Amino acid sequence: MTLVEKVGQTAQRGTSSRSKTLSEDLKQAVREGRVGSVINVTKAEFVKELQEIAVKESPQGIPLIFARDVIHGYKTIFPIPLGQAATWDASIIEQGSRIAAVEANTMGIRWTFAPMLDISRDPRWGRIAESAGEDPYLTTVLSKAYTRGFQTSDLSNPTSMAACAKHFVGYGAAEGGRDYNTAVIDNALLHNVYLKPFKGAVEEGIATFMTSFNELNGIPASAHAYAIKQTLKEQWKFDGFVVSDWNSVTEMIAHGYCKDEKEAALRAAQASLDMEMMSEAYEKNLITLIKEGKFTEAALDKMVASILRIKLKLGLFEDTSFNEDTSILYAEEHLKAAQRAALESVVLLKNKKQILPIKASSKILITGPMADAPLDQMGTWSFDGDASKTITPVDAFRQDNSIEHQFIPGLHFSRDSVTNAFPAVIAAAKKSDVIFFFGGEEAILSGEAHSRADIRLPGKQEALLQQLSKTGKPIVLIIMAGRPIDLSNILSDVDAIMMAWHPGTMGGPALKDLLMGEAVPSGRLPVSWPKTVGQVPIHYNHKNTGRPASKESFVHINDIPVGAWQSSLGNDSHYLDAGFEPLYPFGFGLQYGSVEYTDFKLSANEMGMQDSVHASITVTNRGSYTEQETIQLYMQDEFASLTRPVRELINFEKIVLQPGASKTISFTITKEDLKFYHNGKWITEAGTFNFWISQNAQSGTPEKLTLSE
Ligand code: BGC
Repeated sequence: MTLVEKVGQTAQRGTSSRSKTLSEDLKQAVREGRVGSVINVTKAEFVKELQEIAVKESPQGIPLIFARDVIHGYKTIFPIPLGQAATWDASIIEQGSRIAAVEANTMGIRWTFAPMLDISRDPRWGRIAESAGEDPYLTTVLSKAYTRGFQTSDLSNPTSMAACAKHFVGYGAAEGGRDYNTAVIDNALLHNVYLKPFKGAVEEGIATFMTSFNELNGIPASAHAYAIKQTLKEQWKFDGFVVSDWNSVTEMIAHGYCKDEKEAALRAAQASLDMEMMSEAYEKNLITLIKEGKFTEAALDKMVASILRIKLKLGLFEDTSFNEDTSILYAEEHLKAAQRAALESVVLLKNKKQILPIKASSKILITGPMADAPLDQMGTWSFDGDASKTITPVDAFRQDNSIEHQFIPGLHFSRDSVTNAFPAVIAAAKKSDVIFFFGGEEAILSGEAHSRADIRLPGKQEALLQQLSKTGKPIVLIIMAGRPIDLSNILSDVDAIMMAWHPGTMGGPALKDLLMGEAVPSGRLPVSWPKTVGQVPIHYNHKNTGRPASKESFVHINDIPVGAWQSSLGNDSHYLDAGFEPLYPFGFGLQYGSVEYTDFKLSANEMGMQDSVHASITVTNRGSYTEQETIQLYMQDEFASLTRPVRELINFEKIVLQPGASKTISFTITKEDLKFYHNGKWITEAGTFNFWISQNAQSGTPEKLTLSE
């Protein structure tokens, strides 16, 4: 290969995700061997045309790899990733990504830019929607499931897609939740939290990585040699390739890290970034840099080899054809899987006086801007989904003649502030037995570049809810949103709350089944849900302080006596007006019935470094519904040479329990579960540990274990 052809392999070219044309310039670049991958080709015939040019006319006949953001479905849209994480179910995620790959293959796409593995502790950040939430363990389990689903065990399987672990690394720690912003993460936190899911994806054989837009500790991620070269490639032995994010190489100039594109190319290449998405710093400068002796051809060869290795594994050198049969799009089994995912992603947050499920004989008023919002229901990053295929809650109720209901939207989109229709909604509410208010955010209010400083329901939704509450009729608030919502103004106005995220194509039937008791809610929060935006960032696995907050010492702002002496009140870590706990903790989710946890025990209270103990609990379904229960194992290392979080999830299991049934669940604990990263290595220190098996990150009573050398 000539130098031009080698650099060509490192170039990803393309257009916007909406482009309907194929440019002559792109065709010519492919013909000359100056392109390795193409992003956002939106027609199968374009894929075929370009691939034919690459294979038959380019100097070496090297096939292209076609890439696209197939994030939570291609045509059949599954819940947004944050919603899928709320299922705590790896099989759902694996199945969803398998279906996405099979569908996307009809257009010849063999590389997806998913999963996003950024730990997200700040719901202001729009991209929390695309994440699996705040927990490194849960995100790691799900990162493996996504990888298996997209790639299968054999990348050369024609419906396999190379997956891409993104964004490497620290993107979720953006200052103030503002997208693209600075991340400052110390080395221990980086390994103990932010890198973990990425390491899991490497262990599962993920083919590619994408660097992030942010700078990490002063160095933009696309030139972060410690992250890409030392950690990912040398330490973890990752042998796939790393692509930049869109223009993130040349954006290093705006970051103030490189003075021009030439320097940006050099820094990125030195950090071992293999492919450049969209910007052309490599194409324009790498050869000169090699000729000037600043970069070596041998290093370029390594970059090219890593890209060719994945093309080889995908079987592209043997066969570039793909199954164009579009009749499999929206196949019955795909829709069924999407409905199951939507159903299991829903988290029941409040259910006053067990108002849910609703009796089939009730007269229902359906209202709110998300009740019939086919496009918004698909959520962020659903480029290819067809809104006309979405089944909204209104569609689902209309398809069922047995339920007496009426639909008046009241507001037409989430930011709508026109209140003309309010009187009609109130009048209808008065004649109904129950109100289903479908509120939330339009899809465009979360996702990339869509951070919000105020995370309450936008527009006049709160006003409509407050007016409805005056009718005295029970209100069920169903939220479709890309993030936890600040409910402080309306919490007491509603009787029940269901978080449905943006549930995708089949959200309507799933929600109807849950509301009417044909199915039961089983989702659990993958993020802490703040009482108010002022509490964020908030996450359960925080460190302790020297003055841990406690219910006993907490004094609410309104209870402070006028003229109180300066230091007379509970001097610990809390907000006077919001306390120290979230509204709903990580792992939380109510049920229609009730499940009891008894007999929590450890098989031993002492353990040596080479031993293991079993933590077990008996779980009994005391209600009359068949429940799905997610049993969560948490630990705390009480004292360590590096302070440890107050609780950390280290395992979980989701089980099905028939009414009256009991099951004993046992988890094995070894020193592997107790380790942490400190001073450049993973260690487990002797000492005392607390364990909880509980329904969420705030419940349960701990058992103690002493670990000795
Ligand atoms: C996003 C990536 C995405 C890429 C390609 C960027 O703006 O940050 O997550 O994969 O665009 O569409």
